[in-house]
Amino acid sequence: VSDERSGATAYRHVFQRLTIGPVEVENRIFMAPHGIGLEARGSEHETHSVPAIEHAHYFAERARGGVGLIFHSMPIAPFALQPTLTASPGLPQSVASYAKVAELVHEAGAKIMAEIWYIPWQPHKWEALGPDAPQLAPSPLPNYALPSTRHAMRKRDIERFVGAHAAAVANLRSAGYDGIELHVSHGALLEYFLSPYFNKRTDEYGGSLENRARLLVECLETVRATAGPGLAVGIRLTADQMLSGGFTEDGCREILEYLAPTGLLDFVDLDISVEPDQVHLMTPSFFEPRLHNATRVASVAAAARPLVVIASPGRLTNLADADRLIESGSMDMVGIVRGLIAEPQLVNNARDGRASESRICIAANHCNGGLVSGPGWGCAINPVAGREDRWSELGAAATPLKVVVVGGGPAGLEAARISAARGNSVTLLERRGELGGGVRLWSMLPGRESLASLGGWFEGRLSDLDVEVRTGVEATAESVLALGPDVVFVATGSEYARDGESGFDLNPIKGWDSACVVPFEDVLESGRTLAGRVVVLDEESMHAAAGIAELAAAAGAQVDLVTRKMVVGDALARQARYIEPRLHAAGVTVRRGSWIREISDSDVTIVELLTGRKETVPVDAVVLATVRKPVDSLADELEGKVRFVYLIGDALAPRSLREATYEGHRFGRVIGDADMPESVTDELYKPLNTLVAAEHA
Ligand SMILES: Cc1cc2nc3c(=O)[nH]c(=O)nc-3n(C[C@H](O)[C@H](O)[C@H](O)COP(=O)(O)OP(=O)(O)OC[C@H]3O[C@@H](n4cnc5c(N)ncnc54)[C@H](O)[C@@H]3O)c2cc1C
Ligand SMILES: Cc1cc2nc3c(=O)[nH]c(=O)nc-3n(C[C@H](O)[C@H](O)[C@H](O)COP(=O)(O)O)c2cc1C
Ligand code: SF4
Repeated sequence: VSDERSGATAYRHVFQRLTIGPVEVENRIFMAPHGIGLEARGSEHETHSVPAIEHAHYFAERARGGVGLIFHSMPIAPFALQPTLTASPGLPQSVASYAKVAELVHEAGAKIMAEIWYIPWQPHKWEALGPDAPQLAPSPLPNYALPSTRHAMRKRDIERFVGAHAAAVANLRSAGYDGIELHVSHGALLEYFLSPYFNKRTDEYGGSLENRARLLVECLETVRATAGPGLAVGIRLTADQMLSGGFTEDGCREILEYLAPTGLLDFVDLDISVEPDQVHLMTPSFFEPRLHNATRVASVAAAARPLVVIASPGRLTNLADADRLIESGSMDMVGIVRGLIAEPQLVNNARDGRASESRICIAANHCNGGLVSGPGWGCAINPVAGREDRWSELGAAATPLKVVVVGGGPAGLEAARISAARGNSVTLLERRGELGGGVRLWSMLPGRESLASLGGWFEGRLSDLDVEVRTGVEATAESVLALGPDVVFVATGSEYARDGESGFDLNPIKGWDSACVVPFEDVLESGRTLAGRVVVLDEESMHAAAGIAELAAAAGAQVDLVTRKMVVGDALARQARYIEPRLHAAGVTVRRGSWIREISDSDVTIVELLTGRKETVPVDAVVLATVRKPVDSLADELEGKVRFVYLIGDALAPRSLREATYEGHRFGRVIGDADMPESVTDELYKPLNTLVAAEHA
């Protein structure tokens, strides 16, 4: 949603100060808590880790971008050791690292509070890479994600747990934090105790509301006493557990009415999402409506008064929406995470009348397990996120060069943007009529339309930077050489394999060249409607095959989606849960555990892999969405004719959006430097630490 209103006066509610207990905050936007994996192992790495300096710079960048308050998420104690070594303030030797975070955030003009938690559903270890430690819980609850049962806390466990709060808060106070938020949402232990669904105890910690809230109250008393008068204290609380037997909005109101008069709280942060089945609501993807949490918050907020009420509405990327929510009175401060990961300047850009310059989060959730492509953190569209200490400044090219970028997908667009911002002269050639590459195709699939915003954002930035963009131009080696480039980025992307090759079967599918087989890209770009009986083969298990199947079904075709997997879209991790219901609603038949053996002009033979049972079905069209193959021949043709030929993104190796923008950014940054690498893959042979150290220097 574009928002071209300008200046602080246009957002008069957002740009008002707010007093939260003893803490005054400059404006009404907070960066909500989020774990980002920027931890460094401490010297006693078997027992604890600390926030890396990168973490401090990451937050400071958002503070400089205008955010009033930042929440730093952390487990309360190293006993909550997670495989990812999430940093904890539980030990005094961690204070210096936390103090650095607080110092840089304060210098940048914002306040910083800690969200502290113990989350039973995350794996815990006795030692790094060691066997599992028991997960603490109010009752011996079966685990949702692991084949194990949790440890019902004894009285001594409870005392130690409360005591852990004292240690963490004392250290955070020494480090200069401005407040403490106890996590009572997302299936944190304190939420388990509050919830009749999880808490089956019969002692003074179970049963009545007073009993279920006892542990929370004891922790809050400890936090208050340790924090002293200078720190604000609050909780992040689930507004509705949406669980049969859990607390509902009514139950949340009762909890708030019970806690508000205790004097233990200055603020309440109302949220949603608890184990087992709502994690997807914590970070709503583009399939969920924007601001999905706002109505729920409005419904329970009154019960929290006179406390300050803050909340993350979900997918908020527009300060006009924030202004309206504050004006409505349901929340005093509005939380954003992903909008600020993607665009640290979101607040200042809006304040200064430059909202259209903000890169808008596409909510595809690469930053929080949106793909099962392995661990890793970072933003799919803002490669600087988490690397601010090295990359937030963009130096000028020592010797400005003539750069030609072939391909207007995310890799080429980012390479062009960054090269041009360093003062190089850049021409970008794109054979299609519009920019965006694979993401534009992706956005042509039903329900994925919002992704189109990315191409538009790049178009604006390239125009600001005077990049010469030529669309509708198929680049050849000759036409590129005619431009006399010093550097060519070959960012020509990928195409779906025409012959059905896949990681499952490297051989072509028999009959792949039959007349009924329609190339994936043609379905979206030729305007051809898939009609009659359509079979789609899916191996990638992301959006492509499922989206094409939906599209064909919407046009009236009878569609079968064939996959050897048990769940369509399983490579999309948490987002997979949206894919099958959408297919079901569209009337697509899913044939699981199956594969296409043979295609003829009028039928397809499908085999059930476990039984070997074959079925030949009549067909009018077949789409093979098995694997993307690189389009890289231009690089070979230019080799030896241009000094620097940089093959990046899918053209280097088809992966995902995150890799495409990263490579565009990383190699855009070196253009015009004296020590430019001869080729992109040369960089693979350098030890990472050497690279990082060189950039730090
Ligand atoms: C339908 C679909 C769904 C996807 N789903 C996901 C997903 O869920 N998550 C995810 O992370 N990724 C997904 N991807 C992959 C992601 O879009 C790609 O990894 C990413 O777009 C790669 O970027 P790129 O710039 O390297 O290449 P591309 O985006 O492919 O861009 C290459 C560009 O080069 C142009 N080009 C090629 N040859 C020439 C030439 N000779 N002259 C001029 N221009 C040329 C092409 O027209 C294209 O615009 C999906 C891709 C598709 C197609
Ligand atoms: C990468 C990531 C990690 C998160 N980790 C936490 C966390 O540790 N604690 C928490 O309370 N919320 C966490 N959240 C949820 C956010 O605080 C926020 O409620 C959610 O992202 C919705 O806001 P958004 O749409 O503006 O991103 C996380 C979100 C993201 C994207
Ligand atoms: S990775 Fe995706 S969802 Fe996460 S902040 Fe970046 S654009 Fe948004």
